[in-house]
Amino acid sequence: MRALIVERNEEGQTSASVQEIDENRLPEGDVTVAVEYSTLNYKDGLCIGPGGGVVRNYPHVPGVDFAGTVETSDDSRYSPGDKVVLTGWRVGEVHWGGYAEKARIKADWLVPLPDGLSPRQAMAVGTAGLTAMLAVMALEDHGLAPGNGEVLVTGAAGGVGSVATAILAHLGYDVAAVTGRPETADYLKGLGASRIVPRGDLA
Ligand SMILES: NC(=O)c1ccc[n+]([C@@H]2O[C@H](COP(=O)([O-])OP(=O)(O)OC[C@H]3O[C@@H](n4cnc5c(N)ncnc54)[C@H](OP(=O)(O)O)[C@@H]3O)[C@@H](O)[C@H]2O)c1
Repeated sequence: MRALIVERNEEGQTSASVQEIDENRLPEGDVTVAVEYSTLNYKDGLCIGPGGGVVRNYPHVPGVDFAGTVETSDDSRYSPGDKVVLTGWRVGEVHWGGYAEKARIKADWLVPLPDGLSPRQAMAVGTAGLTAMLAVMALEDHGLAPGNGEVLVTGAAGGVGSVATAILAHLGYDVAAVTGRPETADYLKGLGASRIVPRGDLA
């Protein structure tokens, strides 16, 4: 199997390369997943870039999330052929992650892929999209409802902000999108923002 391996030499310099490795090098876990898609998250950039960022142990396989198909499972909840998603649990930081053809992880960390969603679509939403959804759910838990007035989304053209803008608009909220990049105005309006607020106006 192939994997993106991040290594550190004796001088402390890190390097990343795609390598052919034996499957028995995968970490311990109950379920082995054939990875189909993984996103590129800020933390992945930290892991792959100079210095290794959030990597704990070397060699390391980054990839904070993935979607794919179960190959083998020692856990009764998952069987070969099941489509699954993983996000979080420090996978890609402490535990080897999704930048490999296979990942071995704990069954507790997996979520069955919802019907109607492909692995590609799940990873198009990715960890940034999940974060945006969790934020919207937390706001609604605190009483936010459409009709309460505009919702201000900061960093609106970023990964989390753009999905938050789209989710809120879809739910019927009036979204005022704050951006430091005026050229993203059409993109943000396309996502459903009703108003663009230049970042400088907030200062
Ligand atoms: N991505 C994840 O999975 C994830 C998970 C948990 C928490 N978070 C947190 O969520 C936040 C956003 O993450 P992200 O992945 O969406 O990052 P991102 O794609 O880099 O977006 C961040 C956005 O922040 C805005 N921004 C940049 N510099 C700024 C400044 N100096 N002042 C005000 N706004 C500025 C920019 O928005 P404009 O382009 O519109 O100007 C930028 O696109 C971060 O604090 C991150 O730690 C992210």
